[in-house]
Formats: sequence, structure tokens, C-alpha cells
Amino acid sequence: MPIRLPVWPLLLQHHRTIREQRMQDWFAGADAEQRVQQFSCDAAGIHLDYSKNRITAETMALLLRLADEAGVPARRDAMFAGEHVNDTEDRAALHMALRAPKDAPYRVDGTSVMPAVHAVLDRMRVFSERVRSGEWKGYSGQPIRDVVNLGIGGSDLGPRMVCRALAHLCGDSPRVHFVSNVDGTELAETLARLDPARTLVIVCSKTFTTLETMANACSMRAWFLDHGVPESGLANHFVAVSTNADAVRAFGIDPANMFEFWDWIGGRFSLWSSVGLSIALAVGFDAFAELLAGGHDMDQHFRTAPPGRNMPLVLGVLGVWYRNLFGFPTSCMAPYSSALELFPAFLQQLEMESNGKSVQHDGAPVQVDTSPVVWGTAGTNGQHAYFQLIHQGTQIVPVDFVAPLSAPRTLPGHHAKLLANCFAQAEALMRGRDEAELRAAGIDDPVRIAHMRFAGNRPSNMLLIDGVTPRALGALIALYEHRTFVQGAIWNINSFDQWGVELGKLLARPIEAELTGQAEGRHDASTRSLIARARAVLSRHA
Ligand code: F6P
Repeated sequence: MPIRLPVWPLLLQHHRTIREQRMQDWFAGADAEQRVQQFSCDAAGIHLDYSKNRITAETMALLLRLADEAGVPARRDAMFAGEHVNDTEDRAALHMALRAPKDAPYRVDGTSVMPAVHAVLDRMRVFSERVRSGEWKGYSGQPIRDVVNLGIGGSDLGPRMVCRALAHLCGDSPRVHFVSNVDGTELAETLARLDPARTLVIVCSKTFTTLETMANACSMRAWFLDHGVPESGLANHFVAVSTNADAVRAFGIDPANMFEFWDWIGGRFSLWSSVGLSIALAVGFDAFAELLAGGHDMDQHFRTAPPGRNMPLVLGVLGVWYRNLFGFPTSCMAPYSSALELFPAFLQQLEMESNGKSVQHDGAPVQVDTSPVVWGTAGTNGQHAYFQLIHQGTQIVPVDFVAPLSAPRTLPGHHAKLLANCFAQAEALMRGRDEAELRAAGIDDPVRIAHMRFAGNRPSNMLLIDGVTPRALGALIALYEHRTFVQGAIWNINSFDQWGVELGKLLARPIEAELTGQAEGRHDASTRSLIARARAVLSRHA
């Protein structure tokens, strides 16, 4: 646990000396240029400027020492070696194998996983090309125009985010839709736009038991049958992505139309696997392969770059600095790109499901705070909504800005305006606006000054990519995966399980039976009252 490490008291002491210091002063000094050099690094097509953080060279030295004492390099090597780092589920976490070339040395339990990984990739290539070219037909002989990915959590957020980000590459590809929620509205609204004869469904679920996905899959099957698709024609309209061949067969999907993945891939790390089939269908397999290549670039960087230049390590320790030493409870992801608008939602699952934990590997309580609350939305929209709080609120929120230097689609003059806003936000957060500046601008009413001054000294990272290309996106996603891993390793928690989502799932089934009047249950008074109210309305609509 970090607080028992020799470096911890040194970090606490250092934090006491630095917490009142101001970044403004560092940037006003003669060595500001050097600061930017020192606190920048490049990896896999990403430039990171982390100079606008409340750090000095000594801070970074101590934080990197923390990572070292916590065993991050050894844990990283164990993860890459296919050891069962997901100890509560007794599994490897080897998503890096999914984006590696055929001759990579990844093994699980002594066996190379590369032949199986590339066999599935080959099948994905053939299948996606058949669908995209029109060779794969619906039951009546018509080519596929719409693809619906039914999945939730990791079986939805990753591919949904990537398809949104790379929408500019879709051209006249089949239109890909994502339905995750079980509330019925999302599916009903999607179905209203579809022609069953030209629609392909991907039932995407690692376990093939997830309530939301299976309910949506059953409703889609009924929709096909109600709209004249014969039972014998359903095979042309359903494929599955899963680790559970028996459940796929039981649902009625021919395992020949199943794209496999493996239990050593966590749901939130799975977009690189056959879970990415929707991506390959939307943008073509070559672009999907580029996405994988970008992820692999970042893996190589994470394994080999020296600590001070190792981007996932640097971002990881900065997160720990703010979470544990400063005690900041949240962090914001602000991509200045509409294409990346779903990246914050993806990151929420990645970080909060991975590191929202309270016990260490051995079951003992953690004695520091773990994952911050992660939130954010795309760029300038956030500026006109919640950035007020980030600039002048009582809580400090570290921000990660992600800015593509060129836009996938733009109109004259727009992109410079977008980037200007992004850089200006980071600058404003750092330097603030003091009383002297306001007085110089002719404002001398003290009340007005009190409202208009910004303290500044608020930290941010700036990540630049040349454009929203599949390769850069792959690198960006892998960067945050590894950053999440680094933080989990420092906190000595298992970043690869998610026991906290189980209880709600377990309790939902009996409550569903009670809502439909098929059972009576025992609950607390509040839940009883909620069930009674809902039941009264549901019975009126039955
Ligand atoms: O409920 C959480 C979770 O288990 C996620 O970890 C996972 O990504 C999601 O549900 C979906 O699970 P599955 O792919 O098995 O349907």
C-alpha cells in the first residue's frame, strides 16, 4: 500500500512545501521554456505537455520513485507476460495481445494466444468485407444497409466511441447503430428507422447473460419475425460476439456466426477484440487494423520508455498526486473534438470500473482514496456549461485536454477557433486573473473585483494528436488503459475485476418479478414503497 512505502513520508513532506506555490511564478521565471521541455513527452503520435501541473522536478522524481517502490514496472511486466494479474478472477489481462503482430510473444498459461487472436481477426476481415461489399445478404437476397450492435458497458462504450470518432471514414458503409439500454426507448427508436430485410444484428456480450443485451436481442428477434423474416432466415441477420459458445447456441445463433474472444480480456478492454466487429463494419477492416497498430505502438512505448518520458506512467503518477496528496475528488476529460465526444463516457467505465475499489489484492482495506470521479464532455460545449466551476469553484478539478490539430471535417476558420479556445482554457486555469490586471482594465469596484478575479494555479494536461486517425485514436485509448493500470498498481488494487456491479444485478431479477405481480419479496420500507408505486402504474399499462 502506498502509505507504507519509504517514499510516502517524503512525498507528504514535499507536498507541504509545494501546495501553496503558484504555477504562475514558475512560468514567469527565466526557465519557463525549460520547464515546458522538461515536462513534455511524445509517444505513438501523441504529444503531452504536462508543464501546467503543480509539480517541480523534485515532485516528479518522488512520484516516479513511488511508482517504482510500488512495483509498477514489475506488475507491468507480469501483465505483459500473461500472468494472472486479475487475481480475484484468476485470469490474465492480456488485451495487448489483441493489437500485436502475429509473431508477438504473448502467452497465457504457457500457450501462445497469437494464432487464435489472428484467426479471429482473419474471420473478422472476411466477414466485414463480405457485408460491406454487399456479398453477405439478408434472407430475401438484399445487401445489408444497417448494423445494430446490441451490448452494454464494455460491449458498447468502446466500439460506440470509436465508431463516433471515425465517422468521417464511413463513406457509404453500412450504418452502424448502438443499442445498450433496456428501457425500450432506445431500441424502439432505432427499429423505427430500419428495414428488417437489410439489417444485421451483432449480439455483443462477453458472458451472453447480461440482462439488458439479452432482452434487446430477444426483442430484435421478435421484431424480425413480426416483420416477415422467416425463422429459417434469421441466420442471415444475427451474429454473436462472445466468450460463451453454449449460450450463443442456446439463443439460436449458429456458432459458425460467432466471433470468439477470451476470458483474459476484460469487457472495458475489449474493443480490440471481436467486440470491435462493429468498428470493422463501419470503417473497414484496414482502418480497424490501424487502430490496433496505434494501440500496439503505445504498448511498446509503455514497456520500454524510460520513466520520466513514459506517458502512461507520467499521467498515472500525476493522477495519484492530485487524488492522494491534494485530495481532489474528481477529474475532467475535455476533448476539443466533436469526433471524440464519447471519449469521456468511455473513460468513465475504464477508470471507475477498474479503480473504483476499496480493498487491496489481499482483501485488506485500501488506506488512500482510489479512482476519482471522472467526468467531462466535448470541448467548447463544456466551456459554456461547467467550466465556470473548474475556474472559480471551491473544488479543484484537474483537466485533461485532448486536442486534434486537424479536424476530420471542418469549415474554413473553425478549427483555429476551436484550438484557440482549448489552449485559452488551459492558460486561464493556470494563470488566472489577479486584481492588478482587473484594475489595469479599469475595474476598481472591490466587489466586482472579488467576483471577476480568478485564482488560477489550476492544473491541466494538454494532449495533442495530429488528427483523429485510427492510429492516433488507438494510441490514445491504450494510453488511458495503461494510465489506469499504473494507478491501480500504485493503490495495490485489482483493476481488472468489477464485483461492485454484481449486487444490483442480483437484486433486479426478483424485483422484476414483483413489479409484474409474479412474486412478493422482502425489502426495506423505501424499496417496498417504490415497487408498490411502480406496480400500480405498470398494471394500468399491462
Ligand atoms: O455490469 C458490468 C459489466 O460486467 C461490464 O464490466 C461489462 O463490460 C458489461 O457488464 C457487459 O458485460 P457482457 O459483455 O458480459 O454483456
